[in-house]
Amino acid sequence: MPAPDPAQTVLDTVLDMFSLENRNDPYPCYHAARELGPLVATPFDVHLVTGHDDCMTVLSDPRWGHGYSAGISPIRPGVVAENIPGSFIRMDPPDHTRLRGLVSKAFTPRAMERLRPLVERTAERAVASALAAAEFDLVADLAATVPITVICELLGVPIEDHPRFDTWVRALARGLDPDPLLVEDELRGREIAAAAFSEYFRELVAERRARPGPDLISQLATIDDAGDRLTETELQDICVLLLFGGYETTVHMTGNMVLALGRHPDQLNLLRERPDLIPSAVDELLRFDPPVHFTNRVALQDRHLAGRDFGRGEAVVILVAGANRDPRVFPDPDRLDVTRFAGPTPAPRHLAFGLGIHFCLGAQLARLELEIVLTTLLRHAHAFAVLDPEPTYRETLTIRGLQSLRVRLEGSRAS
Ligand code: HEM
Repeated sequence: MPAPDPAQTVLDTVLDMFSLENRNDPYPCYHAARELGPLVATPFDVHLVTGHDDCMTVLSDPRWGHGYSAGISPIRPGVVAENIPGSFIRMDPPDHTRLRGLVSKAFTPRAMERLRPLVERTAERAVASALAAAEFDLVADLAATVPITVICELLGVPIEDHPRFDTWVRALARGLDPDPLLVEDELRGREIAAAAFSEYFRELVAERRARPGPDLISQLATIDDAGDRLTETELQDICVLLLFGGYETTVHMTGNMVLALGRHPDQLNLLRERPDLIPSAVDELLRFDPPVHFTNRVALQDRHLAGRDFGRGEAVVILVAGANRDPRVFPDPDRLDVTRFAGPTPAPRHLAFGLGIHFCLGAQLARLELEIVLTTLLRHAHAFAVLDPEPTYRETLTIRGLQSLRVRLEGSRAS
């Protein structure tokens, strides 16, 4: 038999990774990519960064950025910084520093902690109605209700409007995937969703400026940092970023978390016996199956990475979910071990929340929500059974999550 063509092997591995067919388990593709080398060339004019160390290097070096201000982003050609005024997740310093600085003033640990009672109430209510039903959809009936209630409360957005957000958020999530993978309708859907979201927040921001309340939008609208204020468009786009970032990721992480524990009853039982492990178990679950699978960066200056020189403007895709399964950093990486992050010596960091200047602004809130949902489930449900052995995933690649997950809560203890 002829030896396999190395170029074809690389192409097949990359295509497998981006194939919707592998959405239910993309991890073998990430291992295959890593085995090809630290950098893998793709047909999309970007290199994949496959190993944990190199992913950390890129994420923590601000000389790798997004390039919209410098006009050098090959990821979304034609998009410049003016098109993303408040979306600081896609900006470089100094614009990123300014906007993140203004928003993080309102995003303090104390402000997040104040949301605890609301998260607890919402989780209790969702679990109680799940217990009352013979079976329920974990994604729609529990995973989605907690983050949307919390982010609406935080921003001061009427919760009744949330069905409108679902369509917009889905279109934006799909729109994060590489453009060559999207069909025309999806590209148009992204534009329509972005415009609808901006219009929604344009009206809400105007209302809050006229009648400020105790919410984050009012706070951001009136923020004045030595004369620096947010413009209308910046404020609208920050609202979109927070609603999108605070909702889509957490819904999918909740789904991934319950599915992983449903498939690993020994680990679930261990958490039942040792609820003190829940906070570090959340880290392991974020490592094991995070919702954000890729992010990207472009060299803002000439850079050297993993033995290759990258010229200014060359781009990389960082395999966040693959780095979290790098066996050189996490022994036996495909094993879910809820004690992995609980030992006395600090475990290497997972990259589920990113790293460096773009490290997730909502990480503390996300942890709070995940811990409370898990605690509430364990407290009330004597056992739970995942009824879909091969559940369906959404079509999105960059943010990966379940379409639905039928679950039965078996019996109850304290409820
Ligand atoms: C950034 C993951 C929840 C708001 C990020 C990044 C990741 C991430 C990987 C960095 C992206 C990059 O470097 O390109 C997650 C996960 C979550 C979650 C896994 C839940 C499990 C949240 C929540 C909020 C939020 C609840 C807000 C309420 C943000 C914002 C950024 C961000 C504003 C941009 C930070 C910056 O560019 O400075 N998130 N996130 N996220 N996240 Fe999250």
